[in-house]
Amino acid sequence: MNLLEVHGISKAFGGIRALDGCSLAVEQGSITGLIGPNGSGKTTLFNVITGYERPDAGTVTIRGTDVTNASPSTIFGLGLGRTFQLVRIFPRLTVMENMHIAVQRQGIRALLRRWTAPHERAHAQELLDFVGISHLTDAPAENLSYGQKKLLEFAMILIAEPQVVLLDEPAGGVNPTLAAQLTDRIKMLNQRGITFLIVEHNMQFVMSLCDKIAVMHRGSLLTEGAPDQVRGNPAVLDAYLGD
Ligand SMILES: Nc1ncnc2c1ncn2[C@@H]1O[C@H](COP(=O)(O)OP(=O)(O)O)[C@@H](O)[C@H]1O
Ligand SMILES: [Mg+2]
Repeated sequence: MNLLEVHGISKAFGGIRALDGCSLAVEQGSITGLIGPNGSGKTTLFNVITGYERPDAGTVTIRGTDVTNASPSTIFGLGLGRTFQLVRIFPRLTVMENMHIAVQRQGIRALLRRWTAPHERAHAQELLDFVGISHLTDAPAENLSYGQKKLLEFAMILIAEPQVVLLDEPAGGVNPTLAAQLTDRIKMLNQRGITFLIVEHNMQFVMSLCDKIAVMHRGSLLTEGAPDQVRGNPAVLDAYLGD
């Protein structure tokens, strides 16, 4: 079953066609990679899927429900979490305070469950431990390395217990040790049933992690397939070399 489907999505910014009839399906339980040259529309597609941009044409469905033009909070409420290409955390707040804000973003569910309950804090601590930054719980977020900030953002998403996670360049600028740790964590979460759609330039990261890879070029889907198929496809290399 396809958990997430986009069909014929177009989005222009002035004269720039960021997305041009883009269609893509993400199978339930998969780790799907989304690659393509810079400017091919990957981040814009994430923004359209998650309600941050309105498409000019096309549809987005989650489990068959049309969510085109739904707000980010509606999409979030349907169990879809995302990270941003440029991390969005509060630098002056501590790591734990950032986790607290992530809980508040869940809205009514979190209010009912009260952050002050010790188990909420314990859960946040568990997630920080899971991503490998529990030793930084009380540090101001601005003191974290770039890679650690990305891990914090990842933990902030996980607190909402999403069913689908969209990651925009999670390994970009992250040192190999943290990247390997991230790979491991994504695999563990996937085994627990979480579906992933991952934009990433680090080919080793993508090829070792994903069971399917979709390639974008100039705002639409160029090809998709297993990592080996995509790697061996001359059209993919041409797309990268041509841009
Ligand atoms: N808010 C925006 N305003 C104007 N142009 C944009 C905006 N967002 C993206 N673009 C343009 O759309 C194209 C696709 O960008 P993007 O989706 O960020 O590509 P990718 O993530 O694949 O690198 C690029 O040409 C980019 O400059
Ligand atoms: Mg991008």
